[in-house]
Parts: sequence; structure tokens; C-alpha cells
Amino acid sequence: QLPKIYVTRRIPPDGIKILQQSGSCEIEQWDSDDPVPRSELLKKVAGIQGLYCLLTEKIDKEVLDAAGPSLKVISTMSVGYDHLSLDDIKKRGIRVGFTPDVLTEAVAELTVALLLATSRRLIEAVDEARSGGWGTWKPLWMCGSGITGSTVGILGLGRIGEAIINRLKPFGVKKILYNDIAPRHELAAKISAEFVSLLELARQSDFLLVCCALTPDTHGVCNKQLFSNMKSNAIFINTSRGAVVNQEDLYQALVSKQIAAAGLDVTVPEPLPINHPLFKLKNCVILPHIASATVETRNAMAALAANNLLAGLKGDAMPKEVPLS
Ligand code: GLV
Ligand code: GLV
Repeated sequence: QLPKIYVTRRIPPDGIKILQQSGSCEIEQWDSDDPVPRSELLKKVAGIQGLYCLLTEKIDKEVLDAAGPSLKVISTMSVGYDHLSLDDIKKRGIRVGFTPDVLTEAVAELTVALLLATSRRLIEAVDEARSGGWGTWKPLWMCGSGITGSTVGILGLGRIGEAIINRLKPFGVKKILYNDIAPRHELAAKISAEFVSLLELARQSDFLLVCCALTPDTHGVCNKQLFSNMKSNAIFINTSRGAVVNQEDLYQALVSKQIAAAGLDVTVPEPLPINHPLFKLKNCVILPHIASATVETRNAMAALAANNLLAGLKGDAMPKEVPLS
């Protein structure tokens, strides 16, 4: 009797191939590009040993109860795992796999793209060019701010923050600051980043980039107090999780021109409703959570999540396991 696994979505081919070719599990899958309905998920997890899920599935006590004591491994095809109720998972002795490293470069590339799109007003400019707003070349029109000579602030310095800095340095960044729950001396020394308080990060950054994980410590930390201490030329970029930001406070900061602009790859909720006030602001660029979306990266994430799941089912060390101590 092979262990049963449930895959909550149609996933990139490299991932499903690894699961199928292993021959070591019985696979059931929600074969759609859209998320599995909650009621279906609750039905399908009953009696499974392994769950392969995405960041769109909230894996809480209800799901764990529906799965029952057979569930041994949860593998999420994401680097973030704030959608998993780790306390409940830990209590049941379930192991968790995730997909760090393989998406670092893709996320860093997209973060730089979003930074440039926001600071140089690319979306607004394209709209103007297409819609007849391009009257003539004008010295004061469509001016943004440049990276050369700027101070970049990183909130949450990890693998992704490091990769972003390495890409921004050739643009001529003058100073790199960061804030985190604790200083990260070794990494910071490698990229010449200076540890500062959150308040100092807000005060000094021309570009403030959020690259931290969403945890109880980071929930809502980008709030009115932070924005009110930022410079009026400052650009705010978030490619981590929407809930790190108090969106109402960000909206106010953008409308009042307290800060110059924001670029967001993540929001609350996702998708952000099309009538949301943030969509009406020219100084806010919103992407639909695509930071890791390259074909190669999504395949690598799917493969890593598959290998994590198979290793966990066998009782082996997972290639990338969330430490649940
Ligand atoms: C994407 O947001 C991820 O966590 O992988
Ligand atoms: C810009 O196109 C310039 O020639 O200054």
C-alpha cells in the first residue's frame, strides 16, 4: 500500500514528473490552474500521508483535523510559509518542506524591475504615450528619481535582500542600510550594509525595500509611523507579503505625497479587488504576485517541493525543511 499524497493544483512539469516517476506514492491532484475549493480540500486530505500545497491554501487546524493522524508531511511550493499554522503542525509531529534558494535570483530580478518601473514611472509613461499624453519632449515631464548616489534600505536582510543589493550596486548606490530582528553581521559585512533601527531606515532611505518573512514580529510594521518618517522623495517597494504593510496607512502616505511612490508585488487581499483605491493612484505600481514567475524558477520550485515531499515520506532528511524546534 503506497502512501497517498494530495497535490492541490496543476504544477509545473518538473514537479509532477518527479512525483510520478518515483513510483513511491499514490497521487491525487486538483487538476486546475485555479485553487482547490476549501470544501474539496477538506474532503481530499482525509487519510493522506503527504500534502503538496501552494501559498494560496491556508493549512490550519481545520485542514489538519480533516486529514487526520495519517498526515506526516506538508510540502509547500513557496519560500514563504505564513499560510501554514506551524504551532498546530508541530503539535501533530508533521514535517514541513519549503522552497528557498531556487527563487532568490528571480525574486531579486523582479524586485529591481519593480523598483525601476516605480522610480522611473514606467507604467504611467507608457499609458501617456499610448493615450496621446505625449505632447512633446518636456524638461520637467515624467521625471522620477535615479538610483545613482542613492541610499537603499532593506527591511529583512536575507538571501533575497543580498541578491537585490548585488544587482543594485552596479547602478551606483551610495549607501546600504538594513533593519532586521537582529543584526546579521556576516552577511552585512559581505555587502557593506549597515544595521540601523527601523526609524533610521525610514528616515534615511531613498528606496526602502521590504524583503522579510511575514511573522508576528513583522505583521503591519510598515505603518503610519514608518511612512511619516520617510523622505518625500522616497520609494517604497514590497515583494515579501502584503500583511507586512498597513495598506490603509500606505494609501494615505501616497495620496498625501508623504512618500513619492510605491511598488507592490503583494497585497491584502490577493487578488486586490480592481476597484481598490490603490489602483487609482498613479504613484502606485501593483503587480499580481509574480516575483518568482520565470519558467525555470517555477520548475525548480516544483521539483524541490516534490523532492521535499518524497524525502519526508521516506523519513529521510528533506533537501529544504522548515526547522520546527
Ligand atoms: C512566493 O511568494 C513564495 O513564498 O514562494
Ligand atoms: C534626451 O533624449 C536628450 O537628448 O537629452
